[in-house]
Parts: sequence; C-alpha cells; structure tokens
Amino acid sequence: MSEQPQISPEAVQAAVDAAVAAITAAQDSAQLKQARHEHLAEGSALAVLNASMRHVAPENKAEFGKLIGQARGRVNKAFVAREVEVAEAELAARLQSETVDMTAVATRNRVGARHPLSVLQEQISDIFVGMGWEIAEGPELEHEWFNFDALNFDEDHPARQEQDTFYVDPVARHLVMRTHTSPVQVRSMLDRELPLYVLCPGRVYRTDEFDATHLPVFTQVEGLVVDRGITMAHLKGTLDHLARQLFGDEAKTRLRTNYFPFTEPSAEFDLWHPTFKGGARWIEWGGCGMVNPNVLRAAGIDPEEYSGFAFGIGVERALMFRSDVQDMRDMAEGDVRFSEQFGMVV
Ligand code: DAH
Repeated sequence: MSEQPQISPEAVQAAVDAAVAAITAAQDSAQLKQARHEHLAEGSALAVLNASMRHVAPENKAEFGKLIGQARGRVNKAFVAREVEVAEAELAARLQSETVDMTAVATRNRVGARHPLSVLQEQISDIFVGMGWEIAEGPELEHEWFNFDALNFDEDHPARQEQDTFYVDPVARHLVMRTHTSPVQVRSMLDRELPLYVLCPGRVYRTDEFDATHLPVFTQVEGLVVDRGITMAHLKGTLDHLARQLFGDEAKTRLRTNYFPFTEPSAEFDLWHPTFKGGARWIEWGGCGMVNPNVLRAAGIDPEEYSGFAFGIGVERALMFRSDVQDMRDMAEGDVRFSEQFGMVV
C-alpha cells in the first residue's frame, strides 16, 4: 500500500503542471508526441494516479474521481490546442520552403558557343558558294605524294624536313599529317570534272611552336580554279571580292612576288583596311599564284588547254586581324568565354 502514490490535490496539480509545461514546450509534432507519451500514456504520473483510485476510500471516490477527470481533461485540452498550433506552424514552414516564385528568371543551362573559327570558315565558304564554287574536302592524314610530290616539291625541299612535317610511323608508308590544304587541289583535279571552281577548308599540321602567333594545328582555306583562259586578273579579282565581302568595301589586296613550287608565277598577298588595329596598313594574309603546269600534268590535265589559279589563306590570321585577337592560343584552348564574345551562343 505504501508504494502507491497518494492521491492528493497537490499531486494531481503537479502532474498537470508538468504535463502542460511539456506540451507547451513542444516545438514540433515529434516533440508533442513525446510529451503525450510521457504525461498521458500508460505509466505517466496521471495514469498512475488514476490507477491508484482503487485504493481510495469509497466515500472519497467521487471527489478524487472528479479531480483526476478534470486533470486529464485539462491536459488533453492543452494537448489538442498545442497540436493545432504545431500543425499550423509546420504547414506554414512547409509552404514557405516550397514557395515557387513565378516571376523568377529561370536559370539557363548554357550548352556552349559556336567556335569563331568554324563561323569564319563557314562565312568564307558561303562567299565562294555564292559565286558558284564547290566545297571540297580531303583527309588530314595524307600521302606524301599528294602533300608534296604532286605539288612539285623537290625531293629535298626544306618543307619536307622533319622539323616542319609530322611524319607518321612507319615512315616507309609515306604518310604525313597534311602540312597545308593544297593536296586537296590535286585530289580535286583527279576526282572532278573540268572546269574546276573549288574551295577546300580544313585543318593542317606543322611542328610549329604553340605561341601567340603559331599553332601546331591550324586552319587553312585553299581555293582552286582550272578552266580555259584563266589569268592572274581572275585571281586578283577573286581575292579582292573575298576581302571586300569579309572586311567591307574599303578593303584592298596586293600581290608581292614569291615562290611556291606548285604555282608559277607565285605571289604572297596582303590585305589592307583603313580600320585595322594600329591604323590603315598592309597585313600579309596568304599565298597564291597560277597553277604550275607540272601540277596540272601530275593530275592528267593538259596545260596547253587549261590554266588555273590557286590561293591559300590562314583562317586564324584572318580572325586575328578581323576581330583583334592578340593571342592565337585563345583559339585553341577551348574556353567557352572566348567563343561567347563572338555572339554565337547556343
Ligand atoms: N600551301 C601554302 C602554305 O601552306 C599556301 C599557298 C600558297 C596555297 C600558294 C596556294 C598557293 O594555293 O597558290 O603555305
């Protein structure tokens, strides 16, 4: 008997106070559940007091029954009230965290930008396609015969030396990474019907340094015309047209004599423009000339009947002076921020 707690108004009040305090202090539904478990469930102070009713003298049962009943009622009421508050607070917090701002600008996934070299190469191609020329392509891994022999290079021409050319093992197979787009001239002459008006853009390889003005892999555009009665005037007119289309009406070209094994006469050509960085000036742009009769013969074309002109330009150089790019390495490193400046963001 002495182990049973004595029901007294003080004991009941203490149990109620402890229960209400725990319920009020509960910050979320988990804590509230815990408070209910501790203060209302089986084993709680109130439940134990309720159980001890058995030992209360019959004449006092009504009084203490009422006391316990009211106590449980108050605790239950506090619980329900807190339950509503906690549920409301939790809902508000959830709505807050799940708020969708319909006016927010969506984050855009950038997929990249077209490379300015590709864009420029296409612009150049379009200029020639607009004149009715065809686009021709050839392999980057090329046979030495197309890269050198058919183009009238001597056996001991310096360009054949290992310091310029990437030879591919085994050397006996005579394969090289093409050092220029000129071998596509020969392939075009062998593959296509005359007359020929072809443009050959593509990548070329040389054992050059990687610095501000050299890349070991760069881009050229080769032009070739073979027809009856072709003269150097056609060449000059074509280059002027290209220059004006690409740089504006004020652009001019000039030819300076030079030597290339595959053209005779040969020239280097320069471009002039009034707004070039550093003022109006001549900038060297490419090589050109009348197709050497030896090259026509190597491709089975009779130089008595046909003549032709050819030119080759560097696309990286054109991009440098057209868009004032100071360092060619920017074109090779593939940083999308470089490409984005040219406005072809995709
Ligand atoms: N293939 C030459 C080079 O890479 C450029 C060139 C010069 C191309 C004269 C031509 C040409 O078609 O006629 O340096």
